[in-house]
Amino acid sequence: MAYKIAVVPGDGIGPDVIEETLKVLDQVGTKFGHEFSYTTVLAGGAALDAFGIPLPAETLEICKNSDAVLLGAVGGIKWDTLPGNLRPEQALLGLRKGLGLFANIRPAILFDQLKDACPLKTEITEGGLDLIVIRELTGGIYFGEKGFKDTTMGKAAYDIEIYAEEEVRRIAIVGFETAMKRSKKLMSVDKANILESSRLWRSVVNEVAKDYHEVELNHMYVDNCAMQLVRNPKQFDVIVTSNMFGDILSDEASMITGSIGMLPSASLREGSFGMYEPIHGSAPDIAGQDKANPMATILSAAMMLRYSFGLAKEADAVESAVRKVLDQGVRTGDIMSPGMTLIGTKEAGRRIREAI
Ligand code: IPM
Ligand code: MG
Repeated sequence: MAYKIAVVPGDGIGPDVIEETLKVLDQVGTKFGHEFSYTTVLAGGAALDAFGIPLPAETLEICKNSDAVLLGAVGGIKWDTLPGNLRPEQALLGLRKGLGLFANIRPAILFDQLKDACPLKTEITEGGLDLIVIRELTGGIYFGEKGFKDTTMGKAAYDIEIYAEEEVRRIAIVGFETAMKRSKKLMSVDKANILESSRLWRSVVNEVAKDYHEVELNHMYVDNCAMQLVRNPKQFDVIVTSNMFGDILSDEASMITGSIGMLPSASLREGSFGMYEPIHGSAPDIAGQDKANPMATILSAAMMLRYSFGLAKEADAVESAVRKVLDQGVRTGDIMSPGMTLIGTKEAGRRIREAI
């Protein structure tokens, strides 16, 4: 079978990790008899340099006409002083909104081989950590009305948090469906003691729960959740939350697994189309130096195989190849620990291909 993938290498280490990931996909293609075709497009700082805008219409069009999108990372200090609407990050928001990707799936797994990288005490993580943050991605404060106005306290700026019932319902369904496939426990996170939008969120989630009697649903305020994630992370399995809270909590969840360079993500809508990217940023300080860890992007490609192409066996092969390479005692700088051998981006990619 042939699959059309739009590839957005982006900025910083984006191109480094994407290069290795495409080679891994080619290896999967050879081994399992699939054909992956790639169309490389510009977004973020790369597009700003070439066209003066972060998300050219052509990029969005090519992504729309593909089976899935694979993205490296966007952003960098070079473009940090541009006005809000021209920042490289706008490319990400534009892709998410333009492609209708309302559900962001962020698994946070503590790899057994990387236990030492976890900053929490071992008794807290005994038995491992494996949770998923499901973040609403095209609504809330990220996309609400924003602007400036004059007040007696001087110039003021505002960003409105707004959620419609239907937006909450569809992400809640993703939460319940995910919980059904796992431990049948769902934690909905909000700030319903303060925010009207959170009270609406909670009531819609409760409504959806009536269709999922088998799932044990709980609600938690976001401040408490931030605390519980470090106090007792094992109480969580699937977390569903808003755009902004999910942004913050997924960074925290990634840190407690000690694997920021390891974690993939998927941004989905109804149907099989999706955009896949590592959760880490563009790390401009190590760009082009063969230092970046390509594993998060390679694992994102595995999610693409599984979610968008329905190739579970192929996805398993990629995931177990990554684990095998960790077992070989080699590490990129971000996950380096005493006694391990330091390797670069290309060597990590080569070993993963070989393991496949
Ligand atoms: C993320 C990032 C983005 C976000 C930025 C780069 C726009 O932090 O994907 O979590 O805030 O959504
Ligand atoms: Mg973030």
